Amino acid sequence: MKGLNNWQCTMQDKGLRLTNNDQEHYFNYYWLRDNCPSSFDQQTQERIFDIAALDLPPVAQAVKINDNILQITWQDLHISQFTLDILLSWANSNQRPDPADLPRQHWLGDFYPCMARFSAEQVHTDSHAREAWAKAMIEEGVALITGMPDTDQSLPELAQLLGLIRPSVAGHVFEVRVEPNPVNLSFTSAALEMHTDTPAEEHAPGIQFLHCRANSVDGGDSLFLDGAAVATAMQEKYPADFALLTQHRVPFYYDHEQFDWRSHQKVIELDQHGAVSGVTVSQHMADWFDLPQHLLDDYYPAFVRFLRELRLPEYLCRFRLNAGECIVFDNHRIVHGRDAYASDAGHRHLRGCYIDRGELRSSYRTLVRKNAQL
Ligand SMILES: [Fe+2]
Repeated sequence: MKGLNNWQCTMQDKGLRLTNNDQEHYFNYYWLRDNCPSSFDQQTQERIFDIAALDLPPVAQAVKINDNILQITWQDLHISQFTLDILLSWANSNQRPDPADLPRQHWLGDFYPCMARFSAEQVHTDSHAREAWAKAMIEEGVALITGMPDTDQSLPELAQLLGLIRPSVAGHVFEVRVEPNPVNLSFTSAALEMHTDTPAEEHAPGIQFLHCRANSVDGGDSLFLDGAAVATAMQEKYPADFALLTQHRVPFYYDHEQFDWRSHQKVIELDQHGAVSGVTVSQHMADWFDLPQHLLDDYYPAFVRFLRELRLPEYLCRFRLNAGECIVFDNHRIVHGRDAYASDAGHRHLRGCYIDRGELRSSYRTLVRKNAQL
């Protein structure tokens, strides 16, 4: 059967072959029947067809192409219609188009002046600014929000622009300041090693918000680096070490009187394209590595190599977080720490919370769609 641009469709045992002069695509009958447009509820977009309820495997009885539409008549006489555009788009990518599937833009230690900046008022009132903020978070993994009101509510109100706050072991929000009985080094004035937060949780927090309420101390500079940039460079320089860190999970723990968190994480995470999507770094929460001892002969040198790569000065971005600013960053990608500060004079107080990475991407996709209709 011929269609526009000379597309021809032929039936085979288990699927259809779609060909023209220089392309050939194959579509499985189960896939076509399951994804027939009639399979989906028009309001909810959820699938209301149950492929497991078919008496026999789906097989086409007849096919035709008219006006860019492929029509399939099935052996049970159900008719499915697909536009060729949709089928060809799928054939070329084999996935639903995703506006949030943006390539990461790696950055180095001189990035601070280039970091995406938005005022709190902008992102609250302008959906295009919100979209640009979410895009920067996906591409660069970090952004700075300025002009934050000095109130308890300004942090949750900001976070909820991109997603629901997800609690961590510290609750819905946490306060980073000197505490009399700290359960974590961040609640002291000591230097904080470069780390990603709470890797001992099974699903470590995705996006972290740190609202600076006060910072009048000597010292306490913020330290940030792009872990994806470091890991990607490591893939080039030390491919065998890189492979070990992407393949094996190592244990992390966070154990105190009231809780006992444990999990295993890969130090370097890859996305569906095989690119580095994140890192998990926390020596103070790393448990005794429980890989086989002979594997540790290779794993430990690779791990130490990565820690040393993370310390190369070209990656480290150092700046002072000022009262009224909120730094927002991808906790699976951006490795952060803090210089020690003098706690006897002045005050340093950050209020923090998390949302999931999926919330960020969902918000970005929704903003792209809504803003395109404005
Ligand atoms: Fe942290």
